[in-house]
Amino acid sequence: MRALVVYYSETGNTEKVAKAIANALNAELRRVEEAVDVLGYDLLFIGTPVHYFGPAKPVIRFLDGLPDLTGKAGVAFCTFHNSGDKKTISYIRGRLEERGARFLGGFSCKGESRLVANLGPRIFNKGRPNEEDLRKAEEFAKTIA
Ligand SMILES: Cc1cc2nc3c(=O)[nH]c(=O)nc-3n(C[C@H](O)[C@H](O)[C@H](O)COP(=O)(O)O)c2cc1C
Repeated sequence: MRALVVYYSETGNTEKVAKAIANALNAELRRVEEAVDVLGYDLLFIGTPVHYFGPAKPVIRFLDGLPDLTGKAGVAFCTFHNSGDKKTISYIRGRLEERGARFLGGFSCKGESRLVANLGPRIFNKGRPNEEDLRKAEEFAKTIA
């Protein structure tokens, strides 16, 4: 089985999870901005930060360009501040299924975020994803495979 992990990451959180999954499965790892030919793979992991309760724009563009995925399997993962992970996973799920892929599951964990709150800029979820999060991501990937 050939597995590919495609991800987008602005501040490195989703990248940490993507690397943990790829290492656990000996999978190919590609940023979504690279030209990625998914046809050579049986299992496709798609990772994104949650941006406004959905995938980040570059991931949406990648999903828009997916070819027919009949016979292949897909998985989604994301990192987020406090909400929107379920919606993001289910959005990716819908887009994969619409291309004929079998959806095998989703994984999410919190990510350290610098956001402007009521009282000014603040850091949330410091240190996340942490070792425990990455261990869970690896376990998730192995269960899927
Ligand atoms: C433009 C923007 C929109 C975001 N929207 C959400 C959101 O709707 N819900 C949420 O929980 N986190 C939101 N976040 C926080 C990110 O999902 C979180 O920091 C994520 O871990 C960043 O991943 P990255 O380091 O891979 O870019 C947003 C961040 C940015 C920059």
